[in-house]
Amino acid sequence: MATIRGGSRHGVVLEDGSLHCEYYDSRRCGSCTIIETPYHQQVAHKRARVAALLEPLAPDLRWLPGVESRPTAFRTKAKMVVAGTVDAPTIGILDAHGEGQDLRECPLYPPALAAAFPHLAAFVTRARLEPYSVPHRRGELKHVLVTLAPDGDLMVRWVLRSTEALSRIRKHLPWLVAQLPQLSVASVNVQSEHKAILEGERETVLTDRDTLTMTVNGFDLHVRPQSFFQTNTDVAASLYRQAAAWIDEAAPAHLWDLYCGVGGFALHTAASGRPVTGVEASAQAVASARRTRDDRLAAGDTAMEHVSFVTDDAVAWAVRQADAAQAVVVNPPRRGLGEELSRWLDGSGASTVIYSSCNPDTLARDVAWMPSFVAREARLFDMFPHTTHGEVAVVLARH
Ligand SMILES: C[S@@+](CC[C@H](N)C(=O)[O-])C[C@H]1O[C@@H](n2cnc3c(N)ncnc32)[C@H](O)[C@@H]1O
Repeated sequence: MATIRGGSRHGVVLEDGSLHCEYYDSRRCGSCTIIETPYHQQVAHKRARVAALLEPLAPDLRWLPGVESRPTAFRTKAKMVVAGTVDAPTIGILDAHGEGQDLRECPLYPPALAAAFPHLAAFVTRARLEPYSVPHRRGELKHVLVTLAPDGDLMVRWVLRSTEALSRIRKHLPWLVAQLPQLSVASVNVQSEHKAILEGERETVLTDRDTLTMTVNGFDLHVRPQSFFQTNTDVAASLYRQAAAWIDEAAPAHLWDLYCGVGGFALHTAASGRPVTGVEASAQAVASARRTRDDRLAAGDTAMEHVSFVTDDAVAWAVRQADAAQAVVVNPPRRGLGEELSRWLDGSGASTVIYSSCNPDTLARDVAWMPSFVAREARLFDMFPHTTHGEVAVVLARH
């Protein structure tokens, strides 16, 4: 019998760091595919997988010890499917038949986030929000997306098939806020297609506040409903600190942060006298990044004096520049940088590239398109325990 190290709602952490979860054991959820593997081994396997992909390109790559996560209560973002009926909604996932499986006690969520689920389920009934049925293509409410800030504030987004239920959500929102006083940002997103897409383009903010403040390493990052933000805030904080340490070591005169989101890497790597340019496709994320910079400037942080943010496609913007900055941080979506940007960086004057990737396959492919660089040091940041996913950051330097 394995020794128990700690407990959390429906899950129990065993002595070997693996997680014993009632939802997994009863086959109601199979999302955590490597949950039975001892935690240190999970991290070692993920690192070995990335190492195997990078090895042919970088036989002397140095690996720093992997940054491990808490084994439970680490997900600060919940993407829950709503199903069932108005009077008995489920909040969780869909099974193979498209029926809802309720996972509101999932041990991956911090208690402050999970505590919102019963109120959100009661809200479905109160506001008569008919859960969308995938098999019958009927209903309105598809997902509820919840983000927890380090200060305990919550952002809640309802993803609807149409705006039919919008007025009822508005009407009953004060009741929900009375149950959940920490609910500071609420919005509705419309995703009308019958497709496995999480959210659509149209967003209506229902609260006075339209940003959640995620304080990371002392930086107040302002996340709007549709802005990207890392799922595991504690591990993201380590990733930004590592990038800042690598950049301090390289001491570049000028730096770019491509795919900068709300500015995490750019703000952490700024230093007095060093121009930093962040580039991001989302205008909303850029507005948030500028707000953090401006607030810090107003508070006398001179490192922010030469930090700027541009709304543009990272590839189109980069290749229009006469040359790259001396150091470039890239943190693209799963599809990676692609051939054009990788080859352009390879031929540019950049001497260091820090590549933070959530997809080892596109990372290895892109590095192969940069033959003038060699991967020198890497570190795994385990944002997603119990799954095969991980974030890896690699320092590429000239041969
Ligand atoms: C993995 S996230 C990284 C965000 C940020 N670096 C962070 O740490 O939160 C990728 C970001 O790339 C942005 N993005 C996607 N396609 C883009 C493109 N073609 N050009 C610029 N930014 C893009 C997304 O909006 C998202 O903010």
